[in-house]
Amino acid sequence: MHKVDVLLGLQWGDEGKGKVVDVLTPYYDVIARFQGGPNAGHTLEFNDIKHILHTIPSGIFHSSKINLIGNGVVIDPVVFKKETDALEKIGVIPEDTLFISKKAHLILPSHKILDAASEAAKGHTRIGSTLKGIGPTYMDKTGRNGLRVGDILHPDFIVKYTFLKNKHLDILKHYDYQDDPGKYEDDWFRGIEKIRACKLVDSEHFINRMINENKKILAEGAQGTLLDVDFGSYPYVTSSNTICAGACSGLGIAPSRIGEVFGIVKAYCTRVGGGPFPTELHDDTGERLRRQGMEFGSTTGRPRRCGWLDLPALKYSIMINGVTQLIITKADVLTGFDTLKICTAYKSEGEILDHLQLDTAQPLEPVYKEMKGWSEDISKIKDCSDLPAEFMAFINYIEEETGVPVTIISLGPDRKATLFPQNT
Ligand code: GDP
Ligand code: IMO
Ligand code: MG
Repeated sequence: MHKVDVLLGLQWGDEGKGKVVDVLTPYYDVIARFQGGPNAGHTLEFNDIKHILHTIPSGIFHSSKINLIGNGVVIDPVVFKKETDALEKIGVIPEDTLFISKKAHLILPSHKILDAASEAAKGHTRIGSTLKGIGPTYMDKTGRNGLRVGDILHPDFIVKYTFLKNKHLDILKHYDYQDDPGKYEDDWFRGIEKIRACKLVDSEHFINRMINENKKILAEGAQGTLLDVDFGSYPYVTSSNTICAGACSGLGIAPSRIGEVFGIVKAYCTRVGGGPFPTELHDDTGERLRRQGMEFGSTTGRPRRCGWLDLPALKYSIMINGVTQLIITKADVLTGFDTLKICTAYKSEGEILDHLQLDTAQPLEPVYKEMKGWSEDISKIKDCSDLPAEFMAFINYIEEETGVPVTIISLGPDRKATLFPQNT
């Protein structure tokens, strides 16, 4: 029986998960999202077309594959409809291959308003949320007030919707924030009809049946480990477990069923929103990374904060997730830098710290190792043996330091710009 492989981000999100899941989909039967919601923006490129997915798994462009939205995901019907409409325009019909858990929670218009009101009230301590209603929806889930996809099928759905909306309106009275959920309801209920048209399932039974039928399953993470609600840079995190354990609770898979854990890491670091970022660059180098890497949010368009690769943070993420294989993306963006820096430790209060500790009162000052860069255009390379020696030294150093093999190297946004070092 095949085990379930998990692919997840090891930094603050936007590592290139969408691209790599799309590349790996031909090797799997089922692609399953297990947490997060429309705060995610997963970009795929092929045939000179770019697609950004928010809720739908990144296997959707392969028509013979099953895509599953698990119970751990939160769905905004409005975003979901926009996404499916855009796919239908290019001939991809999600209803054919998309299964949705009846236990996945729904984001109401009033959840989004609460998100905005809460962020506005926080002032300069705001998280920098994508304002997609993620926090309030997960709060209602754990508070046992939430509305789930399965509720759509019940005759009292509208009653439940109205009850929850009114609860939110009561909470909103405590905020100095004006907006009316009624304005968004037509679109929201149209989105509900779109969800109803998909295959709504008891996904824990569904996925375990797939496992027993020896199907190959890839669980697709959203966000990244350093945004995990428990292990990330709290409170500057998202509201779900983005780590490997989240795949178990977000799909109903036993831990013993997990196989390979693919950890995706960008060759440098980025972050959108607030919170600590030890290697952040506020200078021309940071600006150059942003420009060369086109580091602007896929969901909000915000400029991403940029900095050098952070090894203690990477080792932390590898430890928490039990990563078995590393996938390095966007190394092509580093082309042309004479010197590359990698953070190997931090200085904090006069001491050297060799492990990540984001909750210290003092900011962490990175200690860097410098490596020689390369100047060749590597984005068209098809064979690992053609990669410059400096590039390989960079990859080998990461492997030596982490003890985890790099099995995939991504050198561009397109499907085709992908190398598998162990196959060459
Ligand atoms: P995700 O959220 O992890 O799926 O990542 P995003 O899609 O938000 O951000 C990654 C961005 O980098 C997207 O614009 C991708 O098209 C692009 N991308 C992915 N892999 C590579 C790569 O290896 N090189 C370059 N230059 N761009 C990449
Ligand atoms: P993908 O899947 C990058 C960040 C937000 C904010 C914090 C909380 O594309 O990698 P939320 O909307 O969840 O309340 O925001 O988390 N964030 C992301 N950053 N990529 C993402 O997803 C993100 N999803 C949330 O910017 O700092
Ligand atoms: Mg993204």
